[in-house]
Amino acid sequence: MDLAGLTRELHALRDEAVAVAAGAATTDELGAHELDYLGKKGRLTVVLRGIGALPAEDRPKVGAVANEVQAAIRLAFEDARSTLRTRELAIRLAAEAVDVTTPGRPLRRGSLHPIIETAARICEIFGQFGFVVHEGPEVEDDLTNFQMLNIPPDHPSRDLWDTLYVDVENHLLRTHTSPGQIRVMHSTKPPIRALLPGRCFRYEAIDASHASEFFQVEGLMVDEGTTMGDLRGLLDQFAHAMYGAGKRTRFRPGYYPFTEPSVAFDVECLVCGGSGCPACSRTGWMTILGAGMVHPVVLQYGGIDPERYQGFAFGMGVERIANLRHGVGDLRLYMENDLRFLEQFR
Ligand code: PHE
Repeated sequence: MDLAGLTRELHALRDEAVAVAAGAATTDELGAHELDYLGKKGRLTVVLRGIGALPAEDRPKVGAVANEVQAAIRLAFEDARSTLRTRELAIRLAAEAVDVTTPGRPLRRGSLHPIIETAARICEIFGQFGFVVHEGPEVEDDLTNFQMLNIPPDHPSRDLWDTLYVDVENHLLRTHTSPGQIRVMHSTKPPIRALLPGRCFRYEAIDASHASEFFQVEGLMVDEGTTMGDLRGLLDQFAHAMYGAGKRTRFRPGYYPFTEPSVAFDVECLVCGGSGCPACSRTGWMTILGAGMVHPVVLQYGGIDPERYQGFAFGMGVERIANLRHGVGDLRLYMENDLRFLEQFR
């Protein structure tokens, strides 16, 4: 082949390659075509083999044409590649686009059980008066749950607590948090300001106001010169923090073997404000806890000298405190784990 023929063939190859590059649909396809024209065994190489057959003086001229053609083909492929990349990116972006108007998937958020939350609130209020949380065991011994609290084995006051016994001699499920008083007195020197939240157990027929498992928070203060007035002032502060400033309160005589004197602490009816309604049995008052001055015998069992120290104690049912706070009328709701009930306390 002569110079003119070879040049024509190179130009034809260029034109074809440029058209093929522009027509490729994807970058993959484009890459395959590029190899086909410019690769080591590509069509340009094949055409250039013809140079050897030309006279020596024509070879540089064909070389120049060949360089031009090669550059033109390269350029055509580069252009095509950049166009295809832009288009492919746009397609991918469209396919992977996040629809910001799609409604989110709800996160199932947990929350504290209303009883636990109420116990925490009680501890927080007394915590502001320097009371520190202690814990006692749920399986107690008879000595601590009863005898050291001035409740001897045959004492009729044991009838106040319908006890669940366990298979270990002299052990039972604590019927109240009061044994914690003894444990704190054994582990801490006065002055003592202790809070004992915990689960308690009684053998009860379950109904709207009785449960076999329930929570109490016990309080104990022991110091020199502690008086009933201190108890009253503290409980007033508690009632006001829990149920609202200015709520009227009262002490009523009560009976517990481990306190003397003993009282019931009432707050004005939260439903009628004191005028009398079915919620307070027309008395105008609601009892929220039991309390009293720690019996000297109990101080002695706790290893504390009753001549030098006085103390008061109080104990409240957390479910009752929560009922009054939230207007719940049935204890069983707390144990049923029905989310329709629990989710109202978030
Ligand atoms: N332990 C008593 C009860 O379960 C409550 C109480 C505690 C009363 C402390 C007086 C002092 O009913």
